[in-house]
Amino acid sequence: MLDSISTGVLALDGDLRVIALNAAGQALLETSEARCLGLHAAKLVLHPAEWLEHLTHVLNSGNPHASRGISLVLLSGQEIHVDVIITPYADSDSESGLLVELMAIDRLLRISRDENLLHAQETSRALIRGLAHEIKNPLGGVRGAAQLLARELPNEELTEYTRIIIREADRLRDLVDRLLGPNRQLELQPLNIHEILEHVRNLICAETDNRVTIIRDYDPSLPDFPGDRAQLIQAVLNIMRNALQAAASPKECEIILRSRSQRQFTVGTQLHRLVCRVDIIDNGPGIPPELQSSVFAPMVTGRADGTGLGLSIAQSIIHHHGGALECDSCPGETRFTFYLPMDNHHA
Ligand SMILES: Nc1ncnc2c1ncn2[C@@H]1O[C@H](COP(=O)(O)OP(=O)(O)OP(=O)(O)O)[C@@H](O)[C@H]1O
Ligand SMILES: [Mg+2]
Repeated sequence: MLDSISTGVLALDGDLRVIALNAAGQALLETSEARCLGLHAAKLVLHPAEWLEHLTHVLNSGNPHASRGISLVLLSGQEIHVDVIITPYADSDSESGLLVELMAIDRLLRISRDENLLHAQETSRALIRGLAHEIKNPLGGVRGAAQLLARELPNEELTEYTRIIIREADRLRDLVDRLLGPNRQLELQPLNIHEILEHVRNLICAETDNRVTIIRDYDPSLPDFPGDRAQLIQAVLNIMRNALQAAASPKECEIILRSRSQRQFTVGTQLHRLVCRVDIIDNGPGIPPELQSSVFAPMVTGRADGTGLGLSIAQSIIHHHGGALECDSCPGETRFTFYLPMDNHHA
């Protein structure tokens, strides 16, 4: 069973000797189970100081520990980066040891899980929100004055100018409202993630006259959990609209909606018992390489008519739910993944 999961699982006895390593773990550490059975954990990697420190810390404290982005140097000299969850166990013969879960992070652009980046993005979001407020206040005055002026103008033709002022002021107000984003508190209610995905699927199908192909791959066992329905719909919609806009035509656009439950998963620095994972995968051209590291930042866009706010808003919504939004993109496959904790709530 352990061999069929994609997370590397390493079991160590109380002396930190290997008693089992599943297939994913063997692939990750570039070894075979036969080669490492009975070996001390320090012998699995070069420069094992940090690795050993984590293991002995859990062994001594008896408390599970999650560490993100640990660097391990394999015996071949290759360096890999992994998220590690170490859980102590004691079996029926009161033999104690450690279960170590290893997840490679090299392949993923774990943009939104990078705490520093997230912090920087929150700061720029706050700055933009402040600016947006400053623009919004005088805008109402400009619009009102243009309306008054229109009434006083002696010549009907001149009102074309006031109409332009009013129309542009309205356009700016709409932009500013989007910049301000969903400012209100979350309105939590028990919700089913599939109901949300289906709702957005229907919207997208209606918008495109059913020309996109949307493949559903749902895990029906996912329980309901508290969330803000309207905001989560907004987040999913922003991600799916991007997929649609990136495609050459709706007909060629194929989107996969996948839901899964994930146990013992770390979001940010917090380890959750149960997390809802949703992947939204499209077959479009991919995110332009120069944007890949900044797609979640506000006002970053690759489209001539884009405002660059869709993903920033989506990330903000997922983040307020205590979750994380990630992206991994190459031509032909762009994947947005969000994780929502189902066991506790930050809201
Ligand atoms: N699925 C995708 N495939 C290809 N590129 C994408 C995809 N999703 C996002 N992008 C790129 O990331 C950019 C930022 O997306 P974001 O939704 O934040 O802003 P936008 O779509 O440009 O504008 P807005 O959503 O505010 O109307 C997009 O302009 C696009 O270049
Ligand atoms: Mg968008």
